[in-house]
Formats: sequence, structure tokens, C-alpha cells
Amino acid sequence: MSAAASPAHELVRAGDRKSAMHWARLVPYDTGRFPFARVIAEDVFGTGGLEDLHRLLGAARPGRPLTHGDNFEQRGRIAALGDDSRFYAVYHAFVLEVVAPLFAGRISYSRHPTFRVHFPGTGAVSDWHRDADVTGRWDQINVWVPFVDTAGTSTIWVESHYGRGDHAPVPVRYGQALLFDGGALSHGSVRNDTAVTRVSMDLRIAPMPSESPHPDLGILALRPPGLHAPGPPAATNGAGGGMMAAGADPARAPAMG
Ligand SMILES: [Fe+2]
Repeated sequence: MSAAASPAHELVRAGDRKSAMHWARLVPYDTGRFPFARVIAEDVFGTGGLEDLHRLLGAARPGRPLTHGDNFEQRGRIAALGDDSRFYAVYHAFVLEVVAPLFAGRISYSRHPTFRVHFPGTGAVSDWHRDADVTGRWDQINVWVPFVDTAGTSTIWVESHYGRGDHAPVPVRYGQALLFDGGALSHGSVRNDTAVTRVSMDLRIAPMPSESPHPDLGILALRPPGLHAPGPPAATNGAGGGMMAAGADPARAPAMG
């Protein structure tokens, strides 16, 4: 499949204003100021390029193909980074300097993002789902941030509008963050048939009430009536952990749910 021809890609850039993914945002940021890939490569894997992580592991374990279990094992190594690591200094600065200003600084956000490692030749790292069905939080926006250039089967797939189920890949480059209604739009991934290891993080933000007529940038504006109804209680907290207010001291801020 050609990623460039995918409906979701076109919708993100210019498409149908009545489709929710039209209101998604691809937000550029400076990878020199926020060097996620270099920090993770150096501090977690001791390698130069995350996109070739499968070669590093393949060399260490010759003759054994990489599996779904390897995806989880390696993402666990990233998730083990401490709050005082270089990564979290970059992470909090990124949220405060790149994401929060889009919402006049008034957001809460995941204290810890969720990481994904998706090796070539391995199956989906997340089945089709809506975040709010897991978290019970219908007020949250998903911020999806790859640490390599992604497209086609290495990237996230999202339906174009609520309930359509027409999942299509959304190409996102390193240096871009995709903001979309992951709470209510079905999304996930497919078997990675590219030659690139995808390493990414996703976090959730919740705009706080403000004077703005569009405190959510319009990202949540097209939700059909009824979607804001409370869902079942969150069975797990697998969507990024506790939330904290933008601008709070990460070491001292209380969790916000
Ligand atoms: Fe999700």
C-alpha cells in the first residue's frame, strides 16, 4: 500500500473538514533541542541509530527471528528509564515548550509516556482500539511521537472518522508529533513489513477549561453526541500512567488521575 495515497494522510493535510482526522495536527519540533532518538539510542541501547535496532539484536542472537516478545522486551528497557534520566528532562521540556503552548499552556499530561518498539517482520504492537475504552478518559488527546521516520506498515493507523473503521497509515517523521483524537478514533498498528524498526512514544494530554472558543484546537470538535458519555471504569492504566499539570515540578506534582 502506498502511504502517500492513504485517506488518513490526505485528511491530516488537507482533506474533508467533516472527518475527524482532518482536524488532527502534525506539529513540527526541533530534534536538536529535543533529541529523543539520540538520547534513547545512547542511554538505553548503546547504538547509533534506532531504525537499525533489529540489526543490533539480530547480531546478538543469530539465527533467531525477532518476535512480538522482543518488541515488548525492548520497549521495557526504555520504560525502565528513571525520572531523573536525560530522557525525562527532554520529555518534560518538549511538552512544556512544544505541546502546551498550543493550548495556552493549560493542559495536564502523562507523567510517563507509553513506549513502542516495532521490529520489522513482527505483528501489530497494538490492536484496533480507542484509548477512552481503556482509560475511561474521554477528555484526552493522543500525542504520537516517533523517534524514526515512519510510513506504511511501520507507523500508526487511524480511522478517518468515528466508527468508519477505514484505518489507514499516517506517515509521521522524526521531528513531528501527531495530535489526534485517540480517545474516540479507532487506531492501532499492523505487521511491520518495512525494513525499519519503529521506536515511538505516545502520551495523553487533557486541555483544561479556558477562555478559548476551541480549547481542544478542534481536534475533538466533530465527536458525535453521546461519545462523551462516561465509559466503563478504567480496567488498567496502560495508557501512560498518571497525569500532571503542565508547568508543575515533575518531582513534586501529585498525580491527577
Ligand atoms: Fe491508543
